[in-house]
Amino acid sequence: MDFRDVIETTGACRFYRPDPLPDEVLAKVLDAARYAPTGGNRQGVRFLVVRDAAKRRQLRDWYLPIWEQYISRATVKPDAPRARLLENADHMARHLDQVPALIVVCAQLDDLLATDRHLDRLSIVGGGSVYPAVQNLLLAARAEGLGTALTTLLCAVEPQVKELLGIPDGIATAAMIPIGYPARGFPRKLTRRPIEEICFGDAWGQPLFVRSAKSS
Ligand SMILES: Cc1cc2nc3c(=O)[nH]c(=O)nc-3n(C[C@H](O)[C@H](O)[C@H](O)COP(=O)(O)O)c2cc1C
Repeated sequence: MDFRDVIETTGACRFYRPDPLPDEVLAKVLDAARYAPTGGNRQGVRFLVVRDAAKRRQLRDWYLPIWEQYISRATVKPDAPRARLLENADHMARHLDQVPALIVVCAQLDDLLATDRHLDRLSIVGGGSVYPAVQNLLLAARAEGLGTALTTLLCAVEPQVKELLGIPDGIATAAMIPIGYPARGFPRKLTRRPIEEICFGDAWGQPLFVRSAKSS
């Protein structure tokens, strides 16, 4: 697949076919994740692939109430694209157990170099040694014709998840990624903010390009 096509069409997949994933395809996707950068090249990311049906059901059962609480607080205008997003994400939440594999992404806490931890705000840098690997995984899956969705709600019940999966002390959960063949294909192009809105030149708010670039 063309690299640009992969980037523009790797969306959050909400509808999956139950077909199992061939081991060689799964291995290829996980192999791509390994090449992501990490602070100091510490490589503290681990991937726990849950295929066991009972464990997938348990993860769904824990995910669902957290999702329901989240959605109950979400403000939705009728007919807004957000309403469709939430409806589709709701379907995914209810059917997570039917996705052939759920990848729990873990991080070895000692390997995370959070250079902003002393600032009086939420630390962001620690996650920077984890989520590049996640994005590599998502893109590699797309290139293999697989759908994925980066989710983090389950991290709220990390102690339970760790016990279920035998994850030792010193390891945190960073994401849970359903992965499988998509039941409704891929988006033609993801909806994102135009480049003019998100890129600045030399000072915050100052346009980077003289003439507006094509970015829709
Ligand atoms: C850090 C992060 C956490 C997310 N957590 C969840 C989640 O817990 N559940 C979920 O359904 N989607 C989750 N998402 C997926 C977003 O809803 C999705 O990326 C966004 O709506 C854009 O979707 P699109 O790429 O299909 O356009 C998460 C995305 C990110 C980047």
